[in-house]
Order: sequence, then structure tokens, then C-alpha cells
Amino acid sequence: MKQAGMKRLALMVGILGFGLGVTACGGGEGGGEGPVVPPPPAPAEYADKHMPAGWWTDPKIIEEGKELYIGGKNPDVNCASCHGKDGKPVKAGARDFRNGDRMKLYSDSVWFWRISEGVPNTKMKPWKSKLSEEDRWKILAFERSFGLAGKGWDANKKEWVPADQVK
Ligand code: HEC
Repeated sequence: MKQAGMKRLALMVGILGFGLGVTACGGGEGGGEGPVVPPPPAPAEYADKHMPAGWWTDPKIIEEGKELYIGGKNPDVNCASCHGKDGKPVKAGARDFRNGDRMKLYSDSVWFWRISEGVPNTKMKPWKSKLSEEDRWKILAFERSFGLAGKGWDANKKEWVPADQVK
């Protein structure tokens, strides 16, 4: 029957198209994270929180942040178990901090807010009960180095600038 033939053809074209679409989404740098869109703004109680002065460039702070990030200080806090020791995610869906094009859209306040409160309905839990504010900033100082090494957030300019220029 001609009709049935057409239907089958349409179905096959559909399946082929779907397959191509899936392949296209999975490819490229930062694979599978979807389009680079800005994160939501930080809620009021986080909007004015910023990295303590001098911490973006303090090697001791960054080292302490690394220890926390890899679970060396507290095994209950192990960011690397999902985000990867070297920033290459090891759990599906975990944010890839190596993607500087995406991460530069996160202010330090938004980043800190997400570490503190997590992302609802995802594997990213709130950490504020397990980490002091200082420890959260230390982790951020380390975590930013995967995609934004040497940069710091300038709260006046509202952008990432060379860390030693942050006022
Ligand atoms: C159990 C796995 C897991 C652990 C452990 C984990 N994360 Fe995540 N994290 C995720 C996932 C999944 C996402 C992506 C959430 C989403 O879809 O927006 C994420 C996203 C993030 C984001 C970006 C949020 C956004 O708005 O895009 C930051 C920042 C982050 N994690 C920091 C951390 C830090 C710091 C730690 C350790 C204290 C940590 N994560 C531990 C799974 C994890």
C-alpha cells in the first residue's frame, strides 16, 4: 500500500532526525551541559557577599580550598567525588568548572550562593551546614582556577579581571 509506505518513510526520517539531534547536543567543549546561559541572580541575602580581600591571590587560601574540595579535610565534604579532582566531572550532570565561557557568567556571590544552598532538584546539595563561610570562600578560590585561573571577580566592574587588580 502506498499510504503505509509513506507512513513508514516519515517514521524513519523522524527517527533519523532525532538521532542527529541527540548527537549534536552531546558534542563540543563542555559536553552535554547544554547551551551556555547565565545563572539566576543571587538572592538578596547573598547579593552583597564577596570574596574576602586578598584571597583571590593568596596561595595558602587556594591550597586550603583544594584540600577541602578533594575531601582531604572532611571526608563528608568531597566536591571532587562529582566534579572531579582535576575539574573534569566524574558524575553525569555535575557542573564543569573548566568551561570558562560559562563560569565567567557567575559572580562570586552567585557561586557562593550555589555552594551554600545547592541547586534544587539536582544532586548538588546545600553545603552551608558542613562548611563555614570562610571554608566556602576558600573552596571557591580553588574551584575557580579550573576555568578562570588567575582571575578574580571585580564587584564594581561586575566582571572577572586579573586577580591582582581586584579592589
Ligand atoms: C553528589 C554530587 C555532587 C557533589 C558531591 C558536589 N556537587 Fe556541585 N554540582 C553537582 C551537580 C549535579 C551540579 C549541577 C546542578 C545543576 O544542574 O544546575 C552541581 C553544580 C555545582 C555548581 C554550579 C551551580 C550552578 O548554578 O550552575 C557549583 C558552584 C558547585 N556545584 C559547587 C560544588 C562544591 C563547592 C562542592 C563541594 C563542597 C560540590 N559542588 C559538591 C553535583 C555535586
